[in-house]
Amino acid sequence: MPTPSLLEQQLTETVDFLKAKTNGTTPSVLVVLGSGLGTLHENPAFTISHTVAYKDIPNFPQKPNHTAVVGHAGELVFATLKSAPHLSVVLMRGRIHYYEGFTPQEVVYPLQALKLLGVETVLLSNAAGGIQAGLTPGDLLWINDQLNLTGLNPLIGENPAFLGPRFFDMTEPFCPQLREQAVAIAQQQGFTLFEGVYAGLTGPSYETKAEIRMLQTLGASAVGMSTVLEVLAARHMGLRVGAISCISNLAAGLQAETLSHAEVMETTGNAKVMERFQTLIVGLLTCLAV
Ligand code: HPA
Repeated sequence: MPTPSLLEQQLTETVDFLKAKTNGTTPSVLVVLGSGLGTLHENPAFTISHTVAYKDIPNFPQKPNHTAVVGHAGELVFATLKSAPHLSVVLMRGRIHYYEGFTPQEVVYPLQALKLLGVETVLLSNAAGGIQAGLTPGDLLWINDQLNLTGLNPLIGENPAFLGPRFFDMTEPFCPQLREQAVAIAQQQGFTLFEGVYAGLTGPSYETKAEIRMLQTLGASAVGMSTVLEVLAARHMGLRVGAISCISNLAAGLQAETLSHAEVMETTGNAKVMERFQTLIVGLLTCLAV
């Protein structure tokens, strides 16, 4: 037996800690909550069993003030669905961003740990700037493909072969069955679920008008500062992936106002937007419980 790599040792320590903290809970679905979308756990559809702060979890990426990004709480919430108590889920309230100074490997560490804890499906969410014609702030967009324009890849370096293969396919990273279910849920609820390509950049600056014109040319529907690295890590491990953007603003140059995090938070915090988003996630979880 080869000796486990440092990453494997660290992940094992993290997973053992989480098992001990949660009475051996093995969630099968992970929901990553984006900017301003972190109140999903307050939805009455959930029964919460455990809450664990990132700062208490061994080897979780830490920075002295990193949960200080407004709108990002920094905790894992373990829950079940009231309608399907056998479905165990874990919510990541607050993600780890590259622009905070974390490495790409640190950004995806929580996903890798939670995969080893039992997660098979990940639902990613984010706030994004709308590029595609017809989008309005508050719209939800199903991500059906991505442009990783960060210039980064969390799998660069020695391949963690215990997680997945050196070279892995990205032809269809987003699960088409989840898309079908999401479209059906939106239709039932009477709202349009837009669909398109998410372009991920590093941030933290918003884009220039010229950059948005470039992204239009490239076929991007929405733009943001997260998600793409997590999708890479998830597909490396063979996880089923679904992803939703909440359009918090129109991208630079497509709206009269300049861009601000306050606007992003205001849109994602809007009661109607929140309700649609939560209905979609709870609906998808209900489908996954069957
Ligand atoms: N650009 C990049 N990231 C974002 C945006 C945007 O317009 N809105 C929310 N996150």
